[in-house]
Amino acid sequence: MNGKPPSPRTTLPEGLVSLADHEALARTSLSPEADAYFNGGAADEITLRENVAAWQRPRLHPRVLRPLAGGHTRVQLLGRTLAHPILIAPMAYQRLAHPHGEMATALAAAVLGTGFVLSTQASVPLEDVAHTVLGEAERGPLWFQLYLQPDRAFTRDLVHRAEAAGYEALVLTVDAPVNGARDRERRAGFVLPPGITAINLQGLRPPKPQTLRPGQSTLFDDLLTHAPTWDDVAWLRSVTRLPLLLKGITHPADARLAVQTGAQGLIVSNHGGRTLDTMPATAELLPAVVQALGGEVPVLVDGGIRRGTDVLKAMALGAAAVLVGRPVVHGLANAGATGVAHVIRLLRDELEIAMALCGCQTLAEAAMALGRPADRH
Ligand code: FNR
Ligand code: LAC
Repeated sequence: MNGKPPSPRTTLPEGLVSLADHEALARTSLSPEADAYFNGGAADEITLRENVAAWQRPRLHPRVLRPLAGGHTRVQLLGRTLAHPILIAPMAYQRLAHPHGEMATALAAAVLGTGFVLSTQASVPLEDVAHTVLGEAERGPLWFQLYLQPDRAFTRDLVHRAEAAGYEALVLTVDAPVNGARDRERRAGFVLPPGITAINLQGLRPPKPQTLRPGQSTLFDDLLTHAPTWDDVAWLRSVTRLPLLLKGITHPADARLAVQTGAQGLIVSNHGGRTLDTMPATAELLPAVVQALGGEVPVLVDGGIRRGTDVLKAMALGAAAVLVGRPVVHGLANAGATGVAHVIRLLRDELEIAMALCGCQTLAEAAMALGRPADRH
């Protein structure tokens, strides 16, 4: 959008019946630069494509003539009942997609009972989002995604702001100590346009640059000297009363360390293929993490979820819930809150259809859909 502002449209054209339809339409309305930012991934985008492909591969095994009346998509998560297991993933700078930005996304989520995770790099004040969402009777959970800042005092104050505003959990993202090599974004010459900022980080002073000796690396000897470690997770655990989830855990050993350090939940994620290219798809990473924890804490997953059948497969592989990223931005770009609501609605309707056709009355039976014993929940 380096030149062209996003469309303020709030109504949808007819004929959009899938998330792919939303994507195709969004790509005609986003500027080439914003399109590269939202839809691009790291390097050759192998992980980006593989995330989608890996949910498509497993085949569903329906059971027939089972009782379906009274079925539902409800799940339990961190002590509350959700209408369905779909949450909106944290995504930065949503005002690049629509002038209403995160306000529209959060509102649509709230009216559909969908959980919403606000990014540290959101383009609207975190308090405004909370104010809009918290009054909705049927809303889903409201969580704050945290990037630990080099200035730990600033980070602590930000966490306390989120707590005071009414956010119900912290999602600490641990897979991006540095941005991936985002070739598509760089080719498009993406820069944030004037007026769109990480407004919740206002007042944060950049750390003093180190004086590097010849042969030293700007990355390892300067930028990454502030990169968080497990000690910082323990520190964060000590400065907040909110439940803490770690996002970007993909190795079973890290999953166990996360729980030992006090995480109450994990999100298996490769950042939507935006960080380390050639990582496996999250559909492939999920089972080992679930197995390593044996149900001790909920394991969520994101990356490449585009169909109700994908959601059912994730639940069948042991996910407690899923998060959806780019499709939400497509809905937002297409029609603000209306577009986001439509995307979530399509996905939820598809989930219900997939459950019914697999013979699952509830998501506790999801494992059956992949021909596994239904022994969870
Ligand atoms: C992201 N993601 C992300 N994650 C995070 O923890 N903090 C953030 O600020 C962002 N920002 C962000 C911006 C954009 C444009 C995208 C597409 C993604 C990653 C996001 O939370 C999630 O992990 C992936 O987007 C999930 O993959 P899909 O659903 O987009 O395929
Ligand atoms: C991204 C950062 C903000 O993926 O997490 O764009």
